Amino acid sequence: MSELVINNLHVKIDDNEILKGVNLTVKQGEIHAIMGPNGTGKSTLAYALMGHPNYNVTKGEAFFKGKNILELSPDERSHLGLFLAFQYPVAIPGVTVANFLRTAINAKWRADDPANKGIRIPEFRKLLKERMDLLKMDHSFAGRYLNDGFSGGEKKRAEILQMVTLKPEIAILDETDSGLDIDALRIVSEGVNALRGKDFGAVIITHYQRILNYIKPDFVHVMLHGHIVESGGADLALRLEEQGYDWLREKYDIVSP
Ligand SMILES: Nc1ncnc2c1ncn2[C@@H]1O[C@H](COP(=O)(O)OP(=O)(O)OP(=O)(O)O)[C@@H](O)[C@H]1O
Ligand SMILES: [Mg+2]
Repeated sequence: MSELVINNLHVKIDDNEILKGVNLTVKQGEIHAIMGPNGTGKSTLAYALMGHPNYNVTKGEAFFKGKNILELSPDERSHLGLFLAFQYPVAIPGVTVANFLRTAINAKWRADDPANKGIRIPEFRKLLKERMDLLKMDHSFAGRYLNDGFSGGEKKRAEILQMVTLKPEIAILDETDSGLDIDALRIVSEGVNALRGKDFGAVIITHYQRILNYIKPDFVHVMLHGHIVESGGADLALRLEEQGYDWLREKYDIVSP
């Protein structure tokens, strides 16, 4: 069983320390939710774990499958089985959804076995159709340029399509629920739940308890001011929905954000 272990992670953007010592362990088979006010460092954690060059790790460590991932390139982290669904997915004009996914699958297979010839086209078409049907996506999406002119909700669905096609061992979903209509939220949640099992773990970053009605978390964490200050079960998200964050700011003597 793989686990992602984050110890005392400090991250700076330019000269500002955003993460001030984050500790978190996520095992395959577990679903964790991270909630917290705007600007507390949730996306920073996601980007730092995936190796975005602007996010400078100044202290602490992150291990996945026993490897120090902070020493790996983003593609090596991905080949190891980590996946990030972006809060703001970027468009890649000129690259179709189908080509992007096929390239990603082949890169992963070749990382596992350099002699691998890659996925055959008929096999890939079948896989892609199956996964698009799971997410109730129109098949014409496969031929569109990735995220180019996609609506907010379509981008989020495209992120989940990547996830269910690549089948990572641990996925970090950064506000995948934001901007989804009610039906799309249920469909995307079903996509996540389809992977749920002993081989899949996830960190769901969200502002709303609503998605957690569909994807029931094993653990809920609250991030305030660059720290995970409170952890609990699914009931913690319900309490936040009712009471907001002020009780935690008082408890931990944090002024803002
Ligand atoms: N490129 C950057 N340059 C300077 N500051 C940045 C940069 N990126 C993020 N920050 C700052 O880092 C802090 C944390 O940002 P982050 O995106 O991690 O917040 P978040 O918890 O994901 O918020 P939200 O809930 O609004 O998505 C914010 O104060 C933000 O302004
Ligand atoms: Mg964010």
